[in-house]
Amino acid sequence: MNRRIPLFSPKFDHKEIDAAKDALKSHFWASGAGVGRVSEFEQRFKKFTGCDECVAVNNGTDALHLALNILDIKKKEVLVPSLTFVTTVHSILYNEGIPVFVDVEPGTLCMDPNDLENKITSHTKAVIPVHFGGLPCNMARITKISKENSIHVAEDAAHACGSKYEGKMIGNISELTSFSFHPVKNLAMPKGGAITISSRNSKNMRKRLNSLRWCGIDKRQNSFYDVTSLGYNHYMDEISAAIGIEQLKKISKLNATRLEIAKRYHSDLNVSEKMPLSKGCSYHLYWIRVKNRKKVMKELRSHGIETGSHYRPVHSMAYYNVKIKLPVTDNIAKEVITLPMHANLKKDDVDFIIKTVNSLV
Ligand SMILES: Cc1ncc(COP(=O)(O)O)c(C=O)c1O
Repeated sequence: MNRRIPLFSPKFDHKEIDAAKDALKSHFWASGAGVGRVSEFEQRFKKFTGCDECVAVNNGTDALHLALNILDIKKKEVLVPSLTFVTTVHSILYNEGIPVFVDVEPGTLCMDPNDLENKITSHTKAVIPVHFGGLPCNMARITKISKENSIHVAEDAAHACGSKYEGKMIGNISELTSFSFHPVKNLAMPKGGAITISSRNSKNMRKRLNSLRWCGIDKRQNSFYDVTSLGYNHYMDEISAAIGIEQLKKISKLNATRLEIAKRYHSDLNVSEKMPLSKGCSYHLYWIRVKNRKKVMKELRSHGIETGSHYRPVHSMAYYNVKIKLPVTDNIAKEVITLPMHANLKKDDVDFIIKTVNSLV
C-alpha cells in the first residue's frame, strides 16, 4: 500500500464524536444569542488564554472582520504582513481600511518591527501581527511601537492557539486577538473562530461584538429586540462548539506532540534555513526554505508526502496587485515549504519525511 502523509489532519477520538452526537440529539444546533455550548466554549477559552472576555464566531476570518470593525479603521491605514492567509488583509478591506504591507524577518517569518516602525504615518490606526506558524511575533517591540504611536494592536493568532510569548498566553497580550478553529488548526472544529479581549474596555467591547456577530441585534427582551448596527451573521454553531470544548481539553497535549515533531525536524533536517525551535510555539506549521522548491515538492508528493507553500504574498495576488518591494517576503515566497505537522503523525512518518527531505536537499 502506498504511503500518504497529509499536511494537516485533525486528531480526535470518541469524546468529540460523542459530544457532536449529543449536540445533534439536543435539537439545539445554533443560536445567535450565544448560549449553550457556545457560551461554555467561550468561558473555557477565556480561562485557557487568561483574557478578560471571549466572543466565539464562525471562523477566523469573521473574528478578524469584527475585531477590526470595532476599531473603526475606515479610510485609515492598517499595517499587516503580506506573508499571511489572504483574509488577514481582506478583513481590512471589509472594514474600508487601507492595508499597508510590512516585511517579515527572515529567521521567524513574523512581522519585522523595524519595517513596521518605518511605515507608520499620521493615518495609521492599527497593526495586525500574524504569529507565523504559531511562533509569536516580537510583541515587546510591536507593543512598544504601537503605544508610542497610539495605534491599536489586533493580533492574528489563527496559527497560535496555545502559543506563549515570554510566559504569557497569546490571546492575553493585546487589546484584541483573533483565533481560527478551522479543521486544519491546532484546535479543530468544523467551523469556528474567536476574539479574545484584554482591555480596560473589555465588557463594552464584548457587548458590541456580541451584537455584531448576530446581525446587529441588541436590547433583547425575550423575543423582542432592536437592531442598532449593520451586524453580520457570524456566530458559532453548537456542534462546532461541542467539538471545540473536547479539543480544548486536550490542546496542551496536542501541542506537546507538535513540539516533539518540531524538535525532530529542527535537529534532523539537513536544511540550513528552517523554523526555529521555541517552547512557546504552537507549531501549527513547520517551514523550511530551499532553493529548488518545485523539484523538492514534486519529489515529496511522489513519495506520498503532502506539502504546502505558505504563502504566496497577498500583495502579489491578482486582486491586490500592489507594486511594493518587500525583499524578505518576496524571497521567502519562492523558497518556503511547509511540511506535514499534526498530532496524527507517527514516529515512522516523521522518520520517513526527514529521510526523504534530506535525500533531496
Ligand atoms: C493567518 C490566518 N489568518 C486568518 C485565517 C482565517 O481563518 P478561517 O479559515 O477560520 O476563516 C487563516 C486561515 O487559515 C490564517 O491562516
